[in-house]
Amino acid sequence: MSEVHSAVHAEPAGVPAQARRRRTFAVISHPDAGKSTLTEALALYAEVIDEAGAVHGKSGRRGVTSDWMEMERKRGISITSAVLQFAYRDCVINLLDTPGHGDFSEDTYRVLAAVDAAVMLLDAAKGLEPQTLKLFDVCRTRGIPVLTFVNKWDRPGREALELLDEVEQTIGLRPMPLTWPVGIAGELRGLVECATGEFTRFTRTAGGATRAEAQQVSEAEVAAAEPEFWPAAKDELALLHEIGAEFDEKDFLAGSATPVLFGAALTGVGVRRLLDALVDLAPPPEARDDAEGTPRPLEAPLSGLVFKVQAGMDRAHRDRMAFVRICSGRFERGMVLTHAATGRPFATKYAQAVFGQQRTTVEEAFPGDIVGLVNAGALRPGDTLYASDPVHFPSIPSFAPEHFAVVRAADAGAYKQFRRGIEQLDSEGVIQVLVSDLRGDQAPVLAAVGPLQFEVVTSRLESEFRAPVRLENLGYTITRRTDEAGAALLAGQSEVEVLTRRSDGAVLAVFSNKWRMETIRRKFEDLVLEPLPAGSER
Ligand code: G4P
Repeated sequence: MSEVHSAVHAEPAGVPAQARRRRTFAVISHPDAGKSTLTEALALYAEVIDEAGAVHGKSGRRGVTSDWMEMERKRGISITSAVLQFAYRDCVINLLDTPGHGDFSEDTYRVLAAVDAAVMLLDAAKGLEPQTLKLFDVCRTRGIPVLTFVNKWDRPGREALELLDEVEQTIGLRPMPLTWPVGIAGELRGLVECATGEFTRFTRTAGGATRAEAQQVSEAEVAAAEPEFWPAAKDELALLHEIGAEFDEKDFLAGSATPVLFGAALTGVGVRRLLDALVDLAPPPEARDDAEGTPRPLEAPLSGLVFKVQAGMDRAHRDRMAFVRICSGRFERGMVLTHAATGRPFATKYAQAVFGQQRTTVEEAFPGDIVGLVNAGALRPGDTLYASDPVHFPSIPSFAPEHFAVVRAADAGAYKQFRRGIEQLDSEGVIQVLVSDLRGDQAPVLAAVGPLQFEVVTSRLESEFRAPVRLENLGYTITRRTDEAGAALLAGQSEVEVLTRRSDGAVLAVFSNKWRMETIRRKFEDLVLEPLPAGSER
């Protein structure tokens, strides 16, 4: 066991005490805001328990280890959710990666079911962007407290007050700056600690090094050294004080206000301060509500929530891995757990920590930690695992799909492989698989949040299952849940189709557009049409 590992798992040994040391969070942002850069910077400033920089399959960063990661690499997108664990101060920080592309927002939604806090990362020049808004909505729905990091302050951008105003006006989240920049975006001189007035100066190190050096200086010194920027910063700080923008823990935890930090991930400015904010402010794991709404105490026997299932992560390991967030108890490798959905035992001999594309064996874990379980053929995202004392956590709702395509085996001889592949991708939650009596099993309908999901399916069916496919796009854009009676009413209507979701048997009506749906709704008074939860139909 490495030194850091032993530090992480050292005393205090009790489960609640270990849980209090955990901070489990994800970064939500629009592509290019700097999520990968920030992740790597956080890892650099903390003691990374296993290797950093293995988070992304981005070009140039790491070698490619699986066929479908090849696709990630080519397109420069990250599909694989990975987990990074750091030790910082006396805490263990679990950073869950979220896919950068909006088409995989369903995966992100599942990741957000496994975190206790989120960092909303904004590009100082761009402010709130569409993908950030969408992901923030998920945080709001789930009641996840959000910290905000305004990134790229080393580059010209917008004014700090204007950005705060945008956050408040657009998403109704009251900003509570913890630090304040001295110097406009692109001319950053340092950061003031809003609560104490302490100033930290950042200077670029000589020789073009990318890391900035931090130095504490007195107010008199900064006033003398920065006559151009200090008075403005002072006025802004006074204004913030007047409007009562001080940090309020209750509002932060309730999701009505967000602590805001400024910095530049690329040069490391403000990154340590963000780590401190996570340790000091982000909530540790708490008792999680089961499906009946009863909290499962942290010290109860082991329980965990499967939030992601993934295959083909590594050529050397063709099996499926389930990512499990520990919710209660102490996990020890080798435990035999019960899979709540089937009542079957699940052995955890091959428990692993997954750091990007690297795997190491996990011996023990505590609430807030993420464990990767291999041979996870029977597990689906949203499933519960427990030891001795049964528990069932609420499943993670599916996104409302907006893109539909019929999929058929291109090669009739590979039909068996095709079926197996579709079944597997469905159970991993890569895409929703819908079937209808009319179309039959040979032509299931794939339903996606974004069209890139189709590409992942096509490429994986071909490379992993040797089952090339043909896709035919269907013009549906909207999904509602209905029932058997609804299915009977809708039969024979144009621009609507009734399909059954394979994973849970839900009866869904898919429509070409909203207007067609409204026309049909008016026609049949008793028709049940319910929106799907967590719909991405903004
Ligand atoms: P993402 O994961 O959110 O998509 O963003 P990523 O970290 O890949 O960053 C996107 C671009 O923004 C990168 O530049 C990165 O270097 C830059 N960046 C991130 N943080 C900062 C910052 O604090 N300041 C400045 N000035 N730039 C930042 P790129 O040119 O697209 O890629 P690269 O060739 O530098 O990797």
